[in-house]
Amino acid sequence: MIRGAVVVGALLLLAGCEGPQSILNPRGPAAAEVAALWWWMLAVTGIPALLTIAFAVAAALRRRAQALAAPDHSEHPREGRIILVLGGIVTPVILVAILVPSLLVGRSIHTMPDPVGLTIEVVGHQYWWEVRYPELGIVDANEIHLPAGEPVAVRVRTADVIHSFWVPNLQGKLDMMPGRTLDLWLQADEPGVFRGQCAEFCGLQHALMAFEVVAHPREEFDRWAEHARRRGAHLADDDPLADRGREVYLEARCDQCHGVQGLTRESPVVGTGPDLTLVAARRTLGAGTLPNNRGTLQGWILDPQPHKPGVRMPATRIPARDMDALLAFFESMR
Ligand code: CUA
Repeated sequence: MIRGAVVVGALLLLAGCEGPQSILNPRGPAAAEVAALWWWMLAVTGIPALLTIAFAVAAALRRRAQALAAPDHSEHPREGRIILVLGGIVTPVILVAILVPSLLVGRSIHTMPDPVGLTIEVVGHQYWWEVRYPELGIVDANEIHLPAGEPVAVRVRTADVIHSFWVPNLQGKLDMMPGRTLDLWLQADEPGVFRGQCAEFCGLQHALMAFEVVAHPREEFDRWAEHARRRGAHLADDDPLADRGREVYLEARCDQCHGVQGLTRESPVVGTGPDLTLVAARRTLGAGTLPNNRGTLQGWILDPQPHKPGVRMPATRIPARDMDALLAFFESMR
């Protein structure tokens, strides 16, 4: 009965290690090193812990047997000394066995591979991610596209407070420190979508500051990049409703906080909202808060606060007919 409960409990605990945001489910070379280090640490600390428990239980049972056989409380202080001496040797050995691999893995996962194909800039904002591809002339948000099987350089900084860039399936964490620009690299072994999360408490909506890394096969990535670059250059869609929506966008002063490449000024200004050039192509809204579709987009524009309390964007008052046009405009931006 008890053994069954222990097995079920252990399985449930291990199930928590699976899933889209687990360091124990590595999908790239850097994360594989982190996962291997985790298992190594579990072994060098877990095995001595189990041995200690076993010794403690054995000692208690032995003492009980002795007490039953000869109930005089004679002490044997010398007997335990050898264990103390051994413990004094074993403990530092364990600490060194943790320290040395930690330093080696830390150095390895933070050493930029040579060569790296692409540099992506990621800027942390309360509570979203600005994503720039300076070599490709693309600005996006809350989604990082990269070619699978190749290392890419990620240059991180913050526009406000300390955030931490973390894609558990691909790499260790890297804090985004005000006034500093830091580099790390990402590589996904296979195409796929990997969830990232801000890993440093940065305010009210720290928990809803997520993003996704989309790893494409190389040719698909090139197509995506070509499309995303051209998307910004010309916005002319022969759709009168979307054309009207573009006017609504400017009349409602959405451009005060959000940029659309080719339409408004370079965006974003520090402290404001995500660039909307590719808004309809994104998988989520509000940095991983909601799935991206017409209904959630409309709800978000009308009032994002119920979905993400504390988000910088205020509620808007856009009449229904203008809203239809605005949505058509946004839906054309994919
Ligand atoms: Cu940004 Cu927590």
